[in-house]
Amino acid sequence: MERLQKVIAQSGYTSRRKAEELILEGKVLVNGKVVCELGSKVSDKDIIEIDGEVLEKEEKEYFLLNKPRGVVTTTSDDKKRKTVVDLIKTDKRIYPVGRLDYDTTGLLLLTNDGEFANIMMHPNDKILKVYVAKIKGIITGEDIRKLKKGVMIDYVKVIPKQIKIKKIDKKTNTSIVNITITEGKNHEVKRIFAAVNYEVLKLKREKVAFFDLNGLASGEYRKLTLKEVSKVYSLK
Ligand code: URA
Repeated sequence: MERLQKVIAQSGYTSRRKAEELILEGKVLVNGKVVCELGSKVSDKDIIEIDGEVLEKEEKEYFLLNKPRGVVTTTSDDKKRKTVVDLIKTDKRIYPVGRLDYDTTGLLLLTNDGEFANIMMHPNDKILKVYVAKIKGIITGEDIRKLKKGVMIDYVKVIPKQIKIKKIDKKTNTSIVNITITEGKNHEVKRIFAAVNYEVLKLKREKVAFFDLNGLASGEYRKLTLKEVSKVYSLK
């Protein structure tokens, strides 16, 4: 069930604010009855009419993108930078599921299915996010132990599900670390390393839940299969 104004906005008919106005003006019918309350919820089966016209529901689309660096994770950017949505050929109003920083690369899902996005963004032990971080400096075993015990981010203790040194390069004074987390706080991985005084130089997300980047070069994307979509619904 979704809020009526959200469903109208997601169909592409109008903005959410305009949809709220239409509802308050009594111009929206659900299953033949006028609905004037903004809190009303509807399901996929409900028939919505606006000004006598049945609202066409947008067909759902799902994409997996290998996000390149230098692209913003939004639907539109006021600084006119390229967005992740610009990289995908579609006439549907898709949006990113969660976010990756401008300089972070890797796995990003996009869809116009709000419920799918909610399932993927809700903290869930089955939705692990696997990152590879290149950090400045040679990370010590002591710091890895500290991270395993957990660090405070936004007043909450964050304990990585897994953290492992992959490579240490004394020549360039850098370390490559694999880190798996369940939450999706803003800049979470960078803040985890900052908590033990390391700067993340490069960050790539390699996996989310059962999705990986296999076969996709940077900037490439593919549609999800029906099987993958129903597998996500089964994680609820
Ligand atoms: N953590 C970060 O710090 N940045 C990202 O883009 C994703 C996770």
